[in-house]
This record gives sequence, C-alpha cells and structure tokens, in this order.
Amino acid sequence: MLRFLTAGESHGKALVAILEGIPSGLKLQSEDIDKDLKRRQRGYGRGGRMSIEKDRVEILSGVRFGKTLGSPIALLIRNLDWPNWSQIMSIEEIPQKEVSLLTSPRPGHADLSGAIKYNFKDIRCVLERASARETAARVAVGSVCRKLLEELGIYLYSRVIQIGKVKDESSWDPTPENYKIIEDSPLRCLNKKIEEKMISLIDEAKKKKDTLGGIFEIVVKGVPPGLGSYIQWDNKLDARLAKAIMSIQAIKGVEVGIGFQAAQEFGSYVQDEIFYKEEKLFYREKNNAGGIEGGISNGEPIILRAAMKPISTLAQPLRSVDIITKKRTKAIKERADVCAVPSAAVIGEAVVSFEIVRTVKEKFGGDSLQELKRNYQNYLNYLKSI
Ligand SMILES: Cc1cc2nc3c(=O)[nH]c(=O)nc-3n(C[C@H](O)[C@H](O)[C@H](O)COP(=O)(O)O)c2cc1C
Repeated sequence: MLRFLTAGESHGKALVAILEGIPSGLKLQSEDIDKDLKRRQRGYGRGGRMSIEKDRVEILSGVRFGKTLGSPIALLIRNLDWPNWSQIMSIEEIPQKEVSLLTSPRPGHADLSGAIKYNFKDIRCVLERASARETAARVAVGSVCRKLLEELGIYLYSRVIQIGKVKDESSWDPTPENYKIIEDSPLRCLNKKIEEKMISLIDEAKKKKDTLGGIFEIVVKGVPPGLGSYIQWDNKLDARLAKAIMSIQAIKGVEVGIGFQAAQEFGSYVQDEIFYKEEKLFYREKNNAGGIEGGISNGEPIILRAAMKPISTLAQPLRSVDIITKKRTKAIKERADVCAVPSAAVIGEAVVSFEIVRTVKEKFGGDSLQELKRNYQNYLNYLKSI
C-alpha cells in the first residue's frame, strides 16, 4: 500500500510529508527532490513569496546511504520566511492584542466556509493551511514517486496549453527536444509566439490588478495496459487521477483524452480503433481515450488536462462582508500570484506520479525495488506472450 500525509501552514515553521510504501533499494537523494521543488516555484506571473522561498528538502528518515529502506520517508521543507512570521504564527499562546485579526474573507477561497466550519474569528487560521503552499510537500512526495516510475520506464511530461483566452492548439510529442523548450519556457509553453501572447496577457492582468487561470496538460508515457480496474468505482484509474488533480488548489475541471470534446463528436470518430502488429502488440492509431478505457490503462500514453481558475486574491480586492461586524468591506489583500498555471502543471505531475505508483504497487507489490522490477518484467513478458 502506498500512502502519504502532509502537514504544515503556509507561514509556519515548515511543511512535512510522510510517504509510506516506497520499496527498499530506490536511489534517492535530496537533490532529486529539490529539482522538482524548484520547478514548482518557477513561472511567469508568480508573486513575491517565490523570491523569498528557495525550497529545499531535508530527508529525515527512510533513506540510508542514498537508498530507500522501505520504511516511511519523512520529508521536511522549511519556510524561510518563518522568522518574519514567528509572532503571527506563534505555536505558544501570546496576548491576543498583539495579533490583528483577518476578518474580511476573500471570494473564491476557503476563508468564509473554513471560518464558519472551524469556528474561527481570525481567517488566518484557515488560509494558512488552505493555501497552495501545501503543494510543495506534495511535489516532494511526487518526486520520489517519479524516481520509482523511471525505474520502470514510465515518464511524465507537462505543458501549459492555455492562459486566459490565449490557447496553444498545437499537438505535440514529448520528445527530449520539445521538452527542453517547455522546461526553459517561463510559462511551460512549447510555442514561442503563443508564449509571448500569454506573457502580454499576464502583464495586462497585473496592470489591471486582476488575475488569470488557464489549462495544463500532462502526458504519461510507458504505462503498460492493465493498470487500474473496472471492478470497483474507486479502483478506476481515470477516477483516481481525476480526484488527485482536482485536489490541487484552484483546479476546477479535469479531462481525460479529448474529454469534453467527445460529447460533441460522433462515436465513429471518438473511439480509437484497435490494431495489432507483432513488434507493437495491440495498439491504436489515435488516442482520443487518453490511454484509459473502462478505468484501465490501454497501453497508449495517458493524456490529462486540467483547468485552473484565476487566482482568488486580487490586488484590487473584491467585495466581502466582515465576519464579526457583518458590515460590507473589501476582501483581504494577501501577497499573491497573478497567474500560477505553470506551477500547477508541475504539481499535477507530482499528484499523477503518486497515483500511478499506487496502482503499480497494488498490481505488482514488491517490498524491494528488485522484487517490484522482477514482478513487473514477468507481466511485460506475459503481455508479449498473448
Ligand atoms: C501553484 C498555486 C499557487 C496559488 N497561488 C495563489 C495565490 O498566490 N493567491 C491566491 O489567492 N490563491 C492562490 N492559489 C489558489 C488558491 O490556493 C485556491 O484557489 C484556494 O485555496 C481555494 O481553493 P479552490 O480554488 O480549490 O476552491 C494558488 C494555487 C496554486 C495551485
């Protein structure tokens, strides 16, 4: 079984994750994780916080001499901004008059519903945990999972295909050359001309004190047919991946394959006809299903898309109501991003990595990496034998 939990507040001392179920023998060092943490922090349109935080992981347990032990892997990411927040976020009790309460909830955030649910008079008690800063811990977890997937020849790629109304409608193949362009792009956009338009739109939003969302795409290559199951609703691979992606802050829609477009096309176009060649085994000439049919991977690349809404905190705050006085007011103005779709794409890779490792572990088991690889290879041999 693979599972993880995260803890930590946005301006608390640190973020923590405990990941359990990674087999022994996987090479792992903190630099592997730091690379992905850095990727999460980049992106045109991000706010001032990202220039303060230079995320680095400390691996506290589960690794010895550069290899996993099979025991829980505890990961710690310190918030470098903590010294400036040690009073406001004090663990110890301090006189209440020394802390000013946040009482104007931001539309689009957990602020109001969270304050009602947990009975808080200070919205900071909500926003500190609801914030997407938490995703740094999830990216660290995903980074470990991605290393394991690479051992099995499974690779993940992401790119941004829309910011506001500016779309990159080109199709792509995640070749190393293409992927270098994406990794070097401030918006994870493959198309330079579209990237320029996206940048201007973000500049315009910033000038207008407004925010933007967009769409990112994830491709997973090397997944064999047979991951996930149609037997129970909660074992369906598409359902698990959709849930994982929807759990990212500000994601409001997920597509598998051509997704919503499928609803408007004829069946003869939508379904991917089946072919067979000895050297390729079963294959499809197109991939509208996004690599999943009946909740099971079909051997084609998994293709997922996610829609992120615009950032909720506006430099020109929206109308709200004070939770104590009930008088009309303007929402809180916290330090915020104008657009964070490229970061969300990296977080998407992380949560998808975790879910795929989870289904891999369920199918192939393996307490050690050797055992997992042996079981996996047996299955690949079986695929060739049918
Ligand atoms: C990478 C990333 C960065 C974000 N940055 C901000 C931000 O700076 N300010 C903000 O108000 N919301 C930001 N959000 C979105 C909020 O966290 C999110 O809208 C909020 O927690 C409410 O959750 P919901 O939109 O899923 O309903 C960010 C989301 C992500 C994924």
